[in-house]
Amino acid sequence: MNQENSQHFETAAVRIQAEQSPFREHSVPLYLTSSFTFEDAEQARALFADEIPGNIYTRFSNPNTTEFIDKMCALEGTEDGIATASGMAAMFTSMAALLKAGDHVLASRSLFGSTHQILTQIFPRWGIESTYADIGKPETWAALIQPNTKMIFVETPANPGLDLIDLEWLGKLARTHNLILNVDNCFATPYLQQPAKFGAHLVTHSATKFIDGQGRAIGGVILGTKELMKEIRFFSRHTGPSLSPFNAWILSKSLETLAVRMDRHCDNALKLAQYLETHSMVEKVIYPFLPSFPQYQLAKRQMRHGGPMITFIVKGGVERAAGVMNRLLMISRTSNLGDTRTIATHPASTTHSKLSEADRAAVGILPGLIRISVGLEHIDDIIGDIRQALEG
Ligand SMILES: Cc1ncc(COP(=O)(O)O)c(C=O)c1O
Repeated sequence: MNQENSQHFETAAVRIQAEQSPFREHSVPLYLTSSFTFEDAEQARALFADEIPGNIYTRFSNPNTTEFIDKMCALEGTEDGIATASGMAAMFTSMAALLKAGDHVLASRSLFGSTHQILTQIFPRWGIESTYADIGKPETWAALIQPNTKMIFVETPANPGLDLIDLEWLGKLARTHNLILNVDNCFATPYLQQPAKFGAHLVTHSATKFIDGQGRAIGGVILGTKELMKEIRFFSRHTGPSLSPFNAWILSKSLETLAVRMDRHCDNALKLAQYLETHSMVEKVIYPFLPSFPQYQLAKRQMRHGGPMITFIVKGGVERAAGVMNRLLMISRTSNLGDTRTIATHPASTTHSKLSEADRAAVGILPGLIRISVGLEHIDDIIGDIRQALEG
């Protein structure tokens, strides 16, 4: 890999590249190969024995996935990583590889729906228990740590309520109790915050979102310390959640524009949030860089910008929220996020519909709540579409 450690974020995202092939290409080619050849029996033996570095089989590693991982490590400030077939493969593998029957996970209550299903439906079958802690009550977290607690798992900002966790405080808590801190950094991306700087041992991503940024590819990544990644790599190599080289190629190319895209996403999001706060049909706007956001000071301290996601509550409950969703003309109705196209989602009936009403209410997913992934269209067109949908 061609990399200077001192490079700025934007430069590393563009310039870290797989080694040039004998064809002297400028843009990295796709390595669509299942396996790699051995010069002789001795090289094969040494590769399998981990005595020399190199590719063997694409389930283990591939130049395209290695490039994507090397970039992500540089951007997040982590030592090592693996790329996975989806964000959920990253969440699952980062936990399953390190936990065993009898272990306990302390997680924040505000989590993506499928992560909630892993913790509450899948892990209990294997004797791994978890407890939820409230983001808004940090003073209660230490008391929820048990002698068998091994990991803390959080999202910040959380999906979809955008609650934040003070990563500096959480890093200290994890250190004091000798726990692995695993942070899903999907909503912020490394451009807005780098959890490893605050002591996160693992940083996990759905790369499907802002890392791809164009709604084309599913992928994920687990980044962390060399020591933990050794165990995670062993688990991944033998259970096979690896990312395809084609998707790795797309995601690595996408990282080249992450900084400029995130600047514009966040600029548009702030303007839309400010507009929505003035609208009479809107009960509440949740956006980390609005002074009305309860954790505004923390957001300013921890994040470079307020983020690309907004949630707001429409006056009139679920019927009114459904009407706003149905009247949108340009903004897409889809459950993804992190696209160039602005997307509206109604979490209570889609992404978080598997949660009970009480569980949804506990994390602020009210019936009238709409989540907007703010895209890269002109801000006047985004505001214009939402205005006509609110007023229609
Ligand atoms: C915060 C968060 N984590 C993980 C995931 C899962 O990612 P994927 O859909 O790539 O499996 C999502 C998907 O929306 C998410 O929002």
